[in-house]
Parts: sequence; C-alpha cells; structure tokens
Amino acid sequence: MISKSQENSLIKEALKVLKNSHSPHSGFKVGAAILSSTGKIYPGTNVEFDALTLTVCAERSALFGAVSGGDKKFTAIAVATSSNEFIYPCGLCRQALVEFNPKMEVILITKKKKIKSFILKDIIPNYFKLNRV
Ligand code: THU
Repeated sequence: MISKSQENSLIKEALKVLKNSHSPHSGFKVGAAILSSTGKIYPGTNVEFDALTLTVCAERSALFGAVSGGDKKFTAIAVATSSNEFIYPCGLCRQALVEFNPKMEVILITKKKKIKSFILKDIIPNYFKLNRV
C-alpha cells in the first residue's frame, strides 16, 4: 500500500501530463504516472502517429521512461483520461506492467476526478510468464 500523500502526488502528476497527450487521431487524452519503490514518479502520455500502429499508450510511455531512468520496481500507477467513465488499461499495458509487479496498485481517474483503485493482478489473471528452461 502506498501512502495517501504518495497517492495524491501520483494523481496530480497523471492529471498534469494528461494535458501533454499527443492524440490527433482519437482525440482521447490519457496521462499516466508510475511510482517507483525509490519514491520517484515518472510521467507518460499516449502518443499517436499517422502510421497508426506506432501509437503508444500512456501507461507504457510512463513505464519506458521509468525503466530508462534506472528504476525497475514499481508500486503504483495512476491513469487519468478525458472520459467521464473509468477507463481501464488495455491488455498490452496490463501485461507490460504485470511483468514488473503483479501487486502494483492501479489508480484510475476520470475527467471529473472520480477515483477508483485496485491491484493490477486482479484485472489480468493467468497472465503470460516465460517459463525459462
Ligand atoms: N490508450 C492509452 O493511452 N492507454 C490505454 O490503456 C488504452 C488506450 C490510448 C491509445 C490511443 O492513443 C488512445 O488511447 C485511443 O485508443
């Protein structure tokens, strides 16, 4: 469990980076902020391209930045969108995140700043694990 103040900082950062979303195709803004066990917060946003399949989700943008920054242990991720509904991370992002920490806390934030949180593994049971031989 992360502290209330860490949770608040994470939510604040996800809402801040939401504004940087580059989403000229969908118009759907997503902002994410991932918290490392060292207490560092890394932001990420969705980035869309004319070559549509190059699009990267906000969650993985944040994860890539965090790993590039030298962190590998993550305790929570906050995801803010421009929707009034709670929007859950896509399957690719669930798999990418769960490989780092199945117990990661996921915090969702709607446009009207409604909050919901849960444990990542609960939305990706029986996820793929490489059975190294
Ligand atoms: N998107 C995310 O950033 N995260 C998700 O978990 C699902 C979808 C983005 C990708 C694309 O830029 C836009 O939302 C619409 O699919």
